Amino acid sequence: MTAVKAIQSVQLDDENNTVIILDQTLLPNEKVFLHLSTPEEIWEAIYHLKVRGAPAIGIAAAFGVYLGTKQSKASTYEQLLDDFQKIKQYLASSRPTAVNLFWALDRMEDRLKVEKDKSIEEIKNALKEEAEHIRNEDEQVCYSIGEHALSLLKPGWGLLTHCNAGTIATARYGTALAPIYLGQERGYHFKVFADETRPLLQGARLTAWELQEAGVDVTLICDNMASIVMKEGKVQAVLVGCDRVAANGDTANKIGTSGVAILAKYYGIPFYVCAPLSTIDLDCPTGEHIPIEVRKAEEITTKWYEKPMAPENVQTYNPAFDVTDHELITAIITEKGIAYPPFTKSLKHMKSV
Ligand code: MRU
Repeated sequence: MTAVKAIQSVQLDDENNTVIILDQTLLPNEKVFLHLSTPEEIWEAIYHLKVRGAPAIGIAAAFGVYLGTKQSKASTYEQLLDDFQKIKQYLASSRPTAVNLFWALDRMEDRLKVEKDKSIEEIKNALKEEAEHIRNEDEQVCYSIGEHALSLLKPGWGLLTHCNAGTIATARYGTALAPIYLGQERGYHFKVFADETRPLLQGARLTAWELQEAGVDVTLICDNMASIVMKEGKVQAVLVGCDRVAANGDTANKIGTSGVAILAKYYGIPFYVCAPLSTIDLDCPTGEHIPIEVRKAEEITTKWYEKPMAPENVQTYNPAFDVTDHELITAIITEKGIAYPPFTKSLKHMKSV
């Protein structure tokens, strides 16, 4: 595997009671690792996208709730559970759309409850173990998604991706970028188009950086150029990640994804969503039930530019995600295999195997 894929975007340093995260807001200019020791610092890192991408957020929250609970002075199970739940609730308020955050925190709580009859020290150790499992499993999950996705792609294809669903958004390999890395090792010679992904430029700052570091043939385009590269026949498949997939296959991912899906449908290009099972939320019947994060105006009026790029006090609307209708999705690729429409049936099956 190439060097960039060995970068750990989230790590636990248990000895020093810290979660170490790669500050993704500084990429590609600086590679800075932050040492976070309180739930407040972890909340802030998630909210400000220093750690971002659905699986990475879940891992950071799992480490965070563990470290917070480890510092608890509780002497009974009930007190420990109470302390745990307060930290859990707090971390869960950092971002609303990626279901992995809630999934990871729920999984931590389930583990704590299973250990109910153990000593406080043993329960804390079990929480550490669970958080590490969440991280390590994600690496395997991403690798398997990469294998399944690669089976749908042919050498030499042009691939388009939106936002960043790569190594740094996960424990390793990424979801939508996993088949690209595997293809790179196996001589597939993909030509990747990375949408810049306004307003926070995850495509330009993160995807283009990751892929270039790994030696992949990557071309950065502005979001409004996806149509022309498709029309010119340069794209044979679209691969994207996701923040939450509803039971019917409707998929929330970075704002702009649904527009890419509409274009792909128009040009007859397959549109693939790469989704760990932890991102599939069967309790959410359709995309209409997915909470969409709306972020601050400055992200679209001033962020990343030295001078304002919009008139002062202009009205703004800054939804961070949109929902791609299931009818626009060719297949949803999970670690257990490839789900095809009708998704209501295939996703349920994937979750049960
Ligand atoms: O706001 P972000 O940068 O956290 O949004 C991330 C995405 O939309 C990713 O595509 C998604 O989380 C999948 S990451 C494997």
